[in-house]
Amino acid sequence: MDFAPRRWGLAVLEVVPSVRWTGAALVPLLVVTVILLLRNWNWWYYAPMLRKGQAPLPPGDMGWPVIGQILDFLRAFKSSDPDSFIGNMTKRWGRHSLYRTHLFGQPTVLATTAESIKQVCMNGEVFKSGWPKSTRTVLGRKSFAVLEGDEHRRLRRLTSQALQGQEVLKNYIPKIEDNCKERLKSWAKEGQFQAVPKLQEFTFEVISSIFMSYGGGPVAQQLLHDFELMVYGLRAMAINIPGFAYHKSLQARKKVINALQSILDERRMNKTVKYSDVLETLLETRDENGVYLTDEEIIDTLVVFLVAGHQSSTFSIAWVMIFVQRHPEVLRACREEQLRIQKSKSPGEHLTYADFRNMTYLSSVIDETMRIVNVSPFAFRRVSKTVEIDGFTVPKGWFIETWLRAAHLDERVYPEPYEFKPERWQTFKPRTGQFMLFGLGSRSCIGNELAKLEMSIFLHHAILSYRWEPVNPHSPTKYLPHPQPVDGYLVNFSRI
Ligand code: HEM
Repeated sequence: MDFAPRRWGLAVLEVVPSVRWTGAALVPLLVVTVILLLRNWNWWYYAPMLRKGQAPLPPGDMGWPVIGQILDFLRAFKSSDPDSFIGNMTKRWGRHSLYRTHLFGQPTVLATTAESIKQVCMNGEVFKSGWPKSTRTVLGRKSFAVLEGDEHRRLRRLTSQALQGQEVLKNYIPKIEDNCKERLKSWAKEGQFQAVPKLQEFTFEVISSIFMSYGGGPVAQQLLHDFELMVYGLRAMAINIPGFAYHKSLQARKKVINALQSILDERRMNKTVKYSDVLETLLETRDENGVYLTDEEIIDTLVVFLVAGHQSSTFSIAWVMIFVQRHPEVLRACREEQLRIQKSKSPGEHLTYADFRNMTYLSSVIDETMRIVNVSPFAFRRVSKTVEIDGFTVPKGWFIETWLRAAHLDERVYPEPYEFKPERWQTFKPRTGQFMLFGLGSRSCIGNELAKLEMSIFLHHAILSYRWEPVNPHSPTKYLPHPQPVDGYLVNFSRI
């Protein structure tokens, strides 16, 4: 007789059918229990932190342990409908200004209406910069993204002098314009190309020439290459081991810093040459106590300016090109306006700040494009103190994402929100928080005027003298890391 326990077990199941049934039913029951446990784990873990009498947490689903709702987020942003992420929440929980979720490994609240976003952005004391440590390391200790409170305010005040106001910006116009003309001419000779990488090179060259009178040539190409590697690491998993993107990013950062340091050293040694660029302003700037910016402050500021100022402008210009090409009546109206400006000038004369201010129709085309496309769809904050917003508790230690995209596509503010209607800007005056292309409050974009100036000058010349047609008019859009046509906007490009 075989007394092996396994055999005995089987024998029992054979002899007693109810035991066999229980055994078979137990497995799925166990699986369902484990799934239910895991599915609600985040909720059970985070909900009891509320004290008695406190307002409830916002409605929502915190997904699975560790990964939270990241798969739902990726599914939406890798589909043709990124707004289904919030849309599904609205369907499931009703329309609310806040939802709770769990994203990027953190318990998170999403602020999805103009009013709730305003409350977050205008309260810098409670809602601190929310970039993860890995991003901060790439950007630098003295970059805007890392600094808080007085230090952030000081550096922002001192460095924004180099980017804002008519007196400063008008000096940059000839550099931007010469660059645009040269680029457009060479593109027309090429005939067919992917516009997105070309624009990437163009905006980097413009930004580096405005910032440090540095552009073109193989050295600039190398800087762009290192810079792109560095930026790639901002979104990579923080694994600092050779072969991983984050490690490459940190290595590239060292090269970028060395290049910027040698430019800075050269400037400090040779003070007689005047450059009229951002770096010159940063070198001359002193705070109220007469203290100059340190090398580290200047370099980390340049890094963050380059990061913030180059990619978002690239995609914004690309999308205006796409929208005006798809809407011939809008292109015609843009051309008429730009022609009027061109006719008011003598041949070869540069555009002026006043010309830029007179491009009112083009400005509404840019605003409408950016409202629909949302190049910067959300901003991250860390909650430093438990607060209540719209009747919901937003707990300390959680993260909050201001979902700018949802506010810009809210049909209660923008009827037919997905329709491209530049004319809506003729009568519509947004209230604070309804239109936040460049954010809001103490962390809003300090390069907003420069970005719009650069875009307008490029589009002035492109619209007046060139035509372009997409090779794949139905190319799908990818939304991560920035919205862009999958084919990089492959176009046939020629002089009119
Ligand atoms: C179309 C182009 C641009 C878009 C859509 C854009 C958008 C934004 C947004 C939405 C924010 C706020 C982020 C937040 O709330 O956390 C921001 C911040 C910032 N932007 Fe821009 N930006 C653009 C161009 C530029 C340019 C050209 C520069 C600089 C040269 C720049 C420099 C910055 C800086 C330094 C911050 C951080 C400010 C702070 O933390 O105090 N941006 N940008």
